[in-house]
Amino acid sequence: MPDKKTPAEGLDSLLEENRTFDPPPGFVEGAVASDPTIYETAKADPVSFWEGFANELEWAERWDKPVEGEGPDMRWFVGGKINACVNCVDRHAAGERAHKTALIWEGEPGEEVRWTYAELAKQVNKFGSALRTLGLGKGDRVAIYMPMVPEAVVAMLACARIGAIHSVVFGGFSSESLRDRIEDAGAKALITSDGGWRRGKEVPLKRFSDEALADTPTIEHVIVVKRGEFACAMQDGRDHWYHELMEAAENPCSPEMMDSNDPLFILYTSGTTGKPKGIVHSTGGYLTGAYATTRWVFDLKDDDVFWCTADIGWITGHSYIVYGPLAAGATIVIYEGAPDWPQRDRFWKMCERLGVTVFYTAPTAIRAFMKWGDEWPDGCDLSKLRLLGTVGEPINPEAWTWYHRHIGGERCPIVDTWWQTETGQILITPLPGLISTKPGSATKAFPGVDATILDEAGTEVPVGGGYLAIRGGWPARTLGIWGDEQRFIDTYWSKWDRNTYFPGDGAKRDEDGFFWILGRVDDVINVSGHRIGTMEVESALVDHEAVAEAAVIGVPHEIKGTGIVAFASLRDGFEPSDDLAAAIRAHVGEKIGAIARPESVLFAADLPKTRSGKIMRRLLRDIAEGRALGDTTTLADPAVVETLQKKYEAEAGD
Ligand code: WTA
Repeated sequence: MPDKKTPAEGLDSLLEENRTFDPPPGFVEGAVASDPTIYETAKADPVSFWEGFANELEWAERWDKPVEGEGPDMRWFVGGKINACVNCVDRHAAGERAHKTALIWEGEPGEEVRWTYAELAKQVNKFGSALRTLGLGKGDRVAIYMPMVPEAVVAMLACARIGAIHSVVFGGFSSESLRDRIEDAGAKALITSDGGWRRGKEVPLKRFSDEALADTPTIEHVIVVKRGEFACAMQDGRDHWYHELMEAAENPCSPEMMDSNDPLFILYTSGTTGKPKGIVHSTGGYLTGAYATTRWVFDLKDDDVFWCTADIGWITGHSYIVYGPLAAGATIVIYEGAPDWPQRDRFWKMCERLGVTVFYTAPTAIRAFMKWGDEWPDGCDLSKLRLLGTVGEPINPEAWTWYHRHIGGERCPIVDTWWQTETGQILITPLPGLISTKPGSATKAFPGVDATILDEAGTEVPVGGGYLAIRGGWPARTLGIWGDEQRFIDTYWSKWDRNTYFPGDGAKRDEDGFFWILGRVDDVINVSGHRIGTMEVESALVDHEAVAEAAVIGVPHEIKGTGIVAFASLRDGFEPSDDLAAAIRAHVGEKIGAIARPESVLFAADLPKTRSGKIMRRLLRDIAEGRALGDTTTLADPAVVETLQKKYEAEAGD
């Protein structure tokens, strides 16, 4: 496939990093995972290893078989009955953690809410009852489109309590994206809010919801959380205020006992086609994987305050704000707004104020902090922090080192965690008390996980670059794509044999057996740690009246890691201009969401295509990155790229 970026190309750009950082002695002593033989034990019998974690959860009925089937059909804890909400809330609220703080929330304007596990239990019971009163129950899909407020967590857990399958849609997505996801899942209800705060501005979520709901006949009920005094229209019969439902709702609400392999949630993620995939997660296996990795990777103890800065609209928010930490009985921090509001030290002030001990964020955020200057974290007391994590994209060694020094005070280990929406749980990561880290490397597979590097033909690459591959299974792996079994098999289980999972990432393994993830090898662009399909952006571009044809590529970006650059040819009657470029960029923002908005739109009379009509993105990438053009012999019209290259160079020189 000449049009794809090969892992080898990525290899060239990777900095060789040879420093290693041993776990600090003080950390090793009390670490949750402290026995180095666990890697061998888990490898010898991964199923028993995972069963050990499942045994720490509360099951209504124990499983008959720990694992059944292979490849795409593999299922965990078959025959077991379990409820995720009971595990995340009830069992703590009924025990010693009843008065422990479950959740600390800060609104962007500065409000603080603290709930104990007992309080959280009250909330999820009442909201579960409210949902049941509206006729919702096991197997119904419920969309959640919310700002980062405590009610978002309540909404997820209340769905889990009654067996409804939640589908959280990131609050930064457009109404069209929301509509598509509601449609695909056939959601019966939507939980949203009047609005939310972002950088001091109102995000009118209910208005966006109403736009989406104009064409979603499956939605019967809309539940609206009153976040502020935001104006919003309520439709009689369909729309309900959350607080009114809660007033009338009963406590307790009996939990629905789910089969281990009943879906807990659907979460949409971008792929290589224009249509996002609804990744379906199980109940028992998912919870076991999220719980196990939370305990071991984040080393959580009862006095920890854990802050994962992701949004609940992403898998990181699902596994490491909600399900993993709450199943582990942790204290979680949730923040509504932007890291630079009101000032660029908001995160560090929060760490200081709330006594955060374990902090998990994304490389794109770390690069922004670096750029803002050392004085912001250096001016705050970060001495309570004891462990740091990153996720979402490869972290460049400079950002790793900065994070280590300025946030971690050179005393906190850093866990660089590789995983995906589909994997549900962290798969490649250091265990902070056991593994010496190298800046930029996600190090080793989690115990019980069989990760490797394969070449195109499926031959193992002991040292060097190739494709990341995972063999065997792990409990939190996805059950499949909602409504599209074939796409599931084709995308993930068909590159080599049917038992080897292909995540779509290139990677390299060094002499010590450490993994270095190089990024996507398919038509997915990782912008600020978020997956954006090139096809999705291209369809949004050609949806603009002026655009005849479009192609997008990812180019290195200082903060975002990768930024999107669009090439567009115009329909007759339209002339290139800065205003038009701005309008086209804005159009993509409206169609998908601000994260998909291209950095720039370059106009071209024609796009370089193969004789079979396929756009050669590789050449566009060469042009955008100012490289000598690669092989152009398969082009239908080689003159096209030369013209484009000249034009690009002229514009870049402006
Ligand atoms: C990338 C986010 C390098 C990778 C949890 C993967 C990473 C995609 C890392 C999944 C990491 C995630 N190092 N790359 N530590 N973590 N990625 O589904 O390309 O939003 O395939 O899940 O992010 O993104 P997703």
